[in-house]
Amino acid sequence: MILQETYELNNGVKIPKVGLGTWQIKDGIEEVIKNAVEVGYRLIDTAQAYGNEEGIGKGIQECGIPREEIFLETKLHATKKDYFSAKQAIDESLVRLDVDYIDLMIIHSPQPWEEVNQSEERYYKGNVEAYHALEDAYKEGKLRAIGISNFLNSDTQNILDHCSIIPMANQILTHISNTKLDIIKFNQERNIFIQAYSPIAHGEILKNEKIIEMANKYNVSVPQLCLRYVIELGAIPIMKTANKDHMISNAQLDFHITDEDMTILNDFDPIQDYGASSKFPCFGGKKPTY
Ligand SMILES: NC(=O)c1ccc[n+]([C@@H]2O[C@H](COP(=O)([O-])OP(=O)(O)OC[C@H]3O[C@@H](n4cnc5c(N)ncnc54)[C@H](OP(=O)(O)O)[C@@H]3O)[C@@H](O)[C@H]2O)c1
Repeated sequence: MILQETYELNNGVKIPKVGLGTWQIKDGIEEVIKNAVEVGYRLIDTAQAYGNEEGIGKGIQECGIPREEIFLETKLHATKKDYFSAKQAIDESLVRLDVDYIDLMIIHSPQPWEEVNQSEERYYKGNVEAYHALEDAYKEGKLRAIGISNFLNSDTQNILDHCSIIPMANQILTHISNTKLDIIKFNQERNIFIQAYSPIAHGEILKNEKIIEMANKYNVSVPQLCLRYVIELGAIPIMKTANKDHMISNAQLDFHITDEDMTILNDFDPIQDYGASSKFPCFGGKKPTY
């Protein structure tokens, strides 16, 4: 079962091939975690900004399997751009999650969300300071792996130029119709694993006729096609569902997409509209509600 298969990060730490995202799940988060673990999910992705770390910690404690069998990932708040506030925020996540260590902690965004799509300032100095705090927590054993998210190639190069530990992962928006092949290639060439967030385009791709047609051809659902697509790119899908039936079907990914169809999907017409979620900066909007 793919959920319990792993890749190796550049420091040798094993990471599950598929992750469950938890953005916008607050109520009932403990139950969602327990269901996900029961179905077989082992990578749980959260963020300080999601406001659900406490519930996730509880869900992990109560899920019935040992802590070390879960890969727990969280994100340093995008406003933390100096060493001391980042260091403090890392410790606060450990307390909220009620764990001795976090498996992977990443800088949520190179820019505070309020400035994404609005400002040219890339916070090079601030990101180096925040990353140094991650490096120190990694050396102290509080974090098993560290990384970045939403980093463009210039942002990542800045970290490589000024920090000593190569990030283990870069979590970026990637789904059919929004594939950032240049970023994927840049990171993969440097042994930085790509995690593909919103692999189902936040749900907006479900009604796309051409994608439905391609999914029918493989006799799979649209979410299954979307998840398999990012796996074929060499990325780890970080998918969100609170629905147990969806968790089960989204884990059935035992098929391959042909090279010919991958080319079609790589060049797919860019999505124009993320519907009600277009306002979020990660989808090109300017109204952060993180
Ligand atoms: N690093 C970042 O800046 C960043 C930004 C955005 C997201 N993320 C991470 O990525 C995760 C996933 O992204 P996302 O939440 O934007 O969206 P997503 O995974 O692309 O799509 C989620 C949507 O698809 C639906 N869905 C999932 N499986 C389905 C199925 N089998 N059938 C029908 N509908 C299905 C879900 O509804 P149901 O719940 O009803 O199944 C939900 O509405 C987030 O939760 C978060 O952890 C990270």
